[in-house]
Amino acid sequence: MSTHSTRAESAHPALSETAHPAPSETANPALSETANPGPAETAHGQQPGQDPVPQLIALLDALDAMPVARRLRGRTYDLLEAGPGSRIVDAGCGAGRAVGELAERGAQVTGVDLDPQMLHVARERCPKGDFREGDLAELPFADATLDGYRADKVLHTLADPAQAVSEARRVLVPGGRAVLVGQDWDTLVIDAADPALTRTIVQARADLTTSPRAARAHRALLLDAGFTEIGVEVHTAAFTEGSALPLLTGVASAAHEAGAITAYEAEIWLADQRRRAAADRFFVAIPMFLAVGTKP
Ligand SMILES: C[S@@+](CC[C@H](N)C(=O)[O-])C[C@H]1O[C@@H](n2cnc3c(N)ncnc32)[C@H](O)[C@@H]1O
Repeated sequence: MSTHSTRAESAHPALSETAHPAPSETANPALSETANPGPAETAHGQQPGQDPVPQLIALLDALDAMPVARRLRGRTYDLLEAGPGSRIVDAGCGAGRAVGELAERGAQVTGVDLDPQMLHVARERCPKGDFREGDLAELPFADATLDGYRADKVLHTLADPAQAVSEARRVLVPGGRAVLVGQDWDTLVIDAADPALTRTIVQARADLTTSPRAARAHRALLLDAGFTEIGVEVHTAAFTEGSALPLLTGVASAAHEAGAITAYEAEIWLADQRRRAAADRFFVAIPMFLAVGTKP
């Protein structure tokens, strides 16, 4: 299989009609309640003093509710040919949404996560789900026992994504598929008055991530691990409304906390974004990179 597609989705009808085939979409208003730049790992852009896991779950819930995210999850399930009889692991399953959805398709699915708190929430939300505490670097499965492996918004949190993908190959049967999905932290697209400052902020936020460019390496990771029939796709969420402003507050705060910009620069930058939102000139896009491969 070789799939190459680019889809961008926006709330702006003209954009959807002229440049992109996908239906319109914008940020879920719920997203505005979370001050974070996107599907994030736990350490940054959080409210000080609060437990990071509930915050991360709230953020993921808001993002997962977006139609673009729902479609992207569905695409991963289709690529895994999830259905009755298929044995699938959702690696880094978080609060278990994909496990529940894959089970609804009849798949025999296990969610694996390192974080007991995440697993507790997953078990509460999906009481019939099979969840195991485990590390992506050492999955709790025997060799060649699964038909599908899925890692969604996870590899960027790992110091060694290659080890995880190699482990995916180990647990898959010949003909089994791995699907990797995630955002590239150096590729947040933000329309702003000061492109240099924007670049600094985005890069500073990326630098706070363990493997910020893991997503652009999905294809290479699969090839290096010996997968074949590689397909790649990019699905982009576009935010055109001020309700997505807190996304940028999280990015700017993280950049400031990292010492990359001053508080004044953060405020100037955010003021520009607020003006844009008020004038209906707000634009942020987050490409999500998907790659699929088959174990020979
Ligand atoms: C950003 S969340 C994404 C969760 C879920 N895949 C989703 O799309 O909503 C990343 C998850 O990966 C888990 N994780 C991070 N490193 C891991 C590792 N080495 N082994 C297993 N899980 C890990 C975290 O605990 C967290 O639940």
